[in-house]
Amino acid sequence: MSERRVAVITGASSGIGEALARELAGAGWLCVLLARREERLRALAAEVGGEYEVCDVGDREAVNRVAAAVVARHPAIHLLVNNAGIPGRATFVSAPAERIEEVTAVNFLGGVWCLRAFLPALERAAPSSVVNVASVAGTVAVPTSGPYSASKAAQIAFSRAVCAELKPMGVRVLTVMPGFVETEGFPQRGFLPGLMGQLVVDPQYIAKRIVKAVASGRRELTTPAWYRVASIGQWLMPWLVHRIVSTRFMLSRESF
Ligand SMILES: NC(=O)c1ccc[n+]([C@@H]2O[C@H](COP(=O)([O-])OP(=O)(O)OC[C@H]3O[C@@H](n4cnc5c(N)ncnc54)[C@H](OP(=O)(O)O)[C@@H]3O)[C@@H](O)[C@H]2O)c1
Repeated sequence: MSERRVAVITGASSGIGEALARELAGAGWLCVLLARREERLRALAAEVGGEYEVCDVGDREAVNRVAAAVVARHPAIHLLVNNAGIPGRATFVSAPAERIEEVTAVNFLGGVWCLRAFLPALERAAPSSVVNVASVAGTVAVPTSGPYSASKAAQIAFSRAVCAELKPMGVRVLTVMPGFVETEGFPQRGFLPGLMGQLVVDPQYIAKRIVKAVASGRRELTTPAWYRVASIGQWLMPWLVHRIVSTRFMLSRESF
C-alpha cells in the first residue's frame, strides 16, 4: 500500500484534469488517472509517477469495475475529483437526442457513479475530499448550450446535496464552477468574440485554485472570481439575464 495520499482524477487525459494531476503530483500525491484515451493516460501517469485506468464514467458498470480494481490497490482514497466532462454546443431543440443523453450521462451521472463507487475508500481515508468540477454554465442557462447548462446545474445540485450528506462521514465536498478555460474539448478562444476572449484562462490556473481550495476546506469555488457576477446576476436580475441570452447575437453563437 502506498504511503502517499491517493487522488483519483476523472477526465485526466487533457485540460483541467491533466493540469490537476501535475499540480497534485508536484505536491506529493499519488494520482490515479481515469479517462478513455489510454495513450494519453499512460504518458501522463509515467510523467507524474502515477497510475491510470481506462474508464468511461458514463458507464455505471465500468465505473464500478474500475473502482473495485483501484480500491483493491488503494483501500483508502483521500481525494476524488469528478472532472470528466464533454461540451454540448447545441440547443435542446437542435441537439441529437443521443447527444443530450451522453452529456447528461457523463457530466452529471458520471460523478454520481464515481462518488458511490469510491465512497467506502473515501470514508476509510477520512478526513478526505471530493471535488466536483461543474461550471458557471450551471448557474446561467445559455440556449445554445442548453443540455450542457442543464447537466452542470444537475451536477451543482448533486454536489451541494452530498456536501451536507457526507459531512458526518468526514468527507468534504467542494463544488467548483470555472468560467471559460482554454482546453481541447472547450476551445473557448476561437469561439468567443472580441474582448470576451480576454476572460479565458488556462487549465493550470484552475488546477492551482482547486488544490488551494481543497487544502483550505472550502465548499464552493467560482473561478476566476469575477464570474460570480453572472451567477449573482441570474439570482438578482433574471429578467436582465433573459434579455441578454435571448438576443440574436447570443442565439447565433455556439457556446459550451
Ligand atoms: N473548459 C472550460 O471552459 C470549462 C468551463 C467550466 C467547466 N469545465 C468543466 O471542466 C471539466 C474538464 O473539462 P476541460 O475543459 O478540461 O476539457 P477537456 O480538455 O476536453 O477534458 C475533458 C476530459 O474528460 C474526459 N472525458 C470525456 N468524456 C469522458 C467519459 N465518458 N469518461 C471518462 N472521461 C471522459 C476526457 O478524456 P477522454 O476523451 O480521454 O475520455 C478529458 O480528459 C469538464 O467537466 C468541463 O465541463 C470546463
